[in-house]
Amino acid sequence: MIGKIRIFFAAVFFMAGFMSYGGENERQQTVGDGIKIGLSMDSLRVERWRKDRDIFMKRAKVLGAEVIVQHADGDARRQNEQAENMITQGVDVLVVIPKDGVAAAQIVEIAHKEGVKVLAYDRLIMKSDVDLYISFDNEQVGYLQAEYIARKIPKGNYFLLGGAPTDNNAHLLRKGQMRALQPLIDRGEIRVVAKQWAIDWDARDALKKTEQVLTRHDNRIDAVVASNDGTAGGVIQALDAQKLAGKVPVSGQDAEKAACQRILAGTQAMTVYKPIHLIAITAAEAAVALAKGDAIPQATQTVNNDKTEVPAILLTPIQVDKDNLDVVIDDGFHKREDIYKKK
Ligand code: BGC
Repeated sequence: MIGKIRIFFAAVFFMAGFMSYGGENERQQTVGDGIKIGLSMDSLRVERWRKDRDIFMKRAKVLGAEVIVQHADGDARRQNEQAENMITQGVDVLVVIPKDGVAAAQIVEIAHKEGVKVLAYDRLIMKSDVDLYISFDNEQVGYLQAEYIARKIPKGNYFLLGGAPTDNNAHLLRKGQMRALQPLIDRGEIRVVAKQWAIDWDARDALKKTEQVLTRHDNRIDAVVASNDGTAGGVIQALDAQKLAGKVPVSGQDAEKAACQRILAGTQAMTVYKPIHLIAITAAEAAVALAKGDAIPQATQTVNNDKTEVPAILLTPIQVDKDNLDVVIDDGFHKREDIYKKK
């Protein structure tokens, strides 16, 4: 009898240890058993999102949860329909990467009617009672982009190319960029000659808008603050056509494979690396906790979404240029041979 009790307590401590320290897979299988997560994505067009999806799903599976994924191919209305459909399918929690931060408020409303909690992943859902927001510090991403470019080109004509205006991140980035540039603008050293937004974060739109800006200013653009690597690619293509690629520094974000190659080639000055495994794993764990009605102790801050203060977890982005590019390799984000190989 005593022996049996001892084994029982040993087993309890064993399990508790695994639960609190996030130990091995098999033991955790029980944690989220029966939990169904809906992952609603804007689109998979930008390289990072497949990583987000794959790492998120893997972690959720390890936690014993089932995940249904849908992406709306850049269509906000379709995303709302897909999310609604997942609620009908009985998900316990929805994780949403909104195409349109304002339109997605409807998803939160419908979900809450059915008692389904909503986690805004990477991009905030505006004007809603969304339950949790997990992202990187996007204002800091913008600051790191412009701060880097301003160190290279402390005087001259700047073109600021923002991301999709429907994405709250694009506005946070611009805010951070302006924080870095404003003192130099005030001193008359930097002139922002054009400010644009790339519709849907589309590289072709970035290309077109850069061509227009170059034409309008007789190619007298000294630096471009581009908000992600995809759009930086469009900017650099336009610069290249004017033999300006490599002469005009361009920023980016995401540490995409092509961007890392351009950094080595000297046509893109920098990128901002965001360790995707951190956001994906944190979000999968938080989704399971939300589904179970548990508190999220890591949400130590709040972010205002024009309706309420949303509990938030904001992770730290990293400024990367050719001197510390190995960060992305050491972190397992890219293979060395993929970045250093000739195109
Ligand atoms: C993300 C970026 C991404 C962009 C385009 C933003 O919301 O934070 O990492 O490059 O969307 O998909």
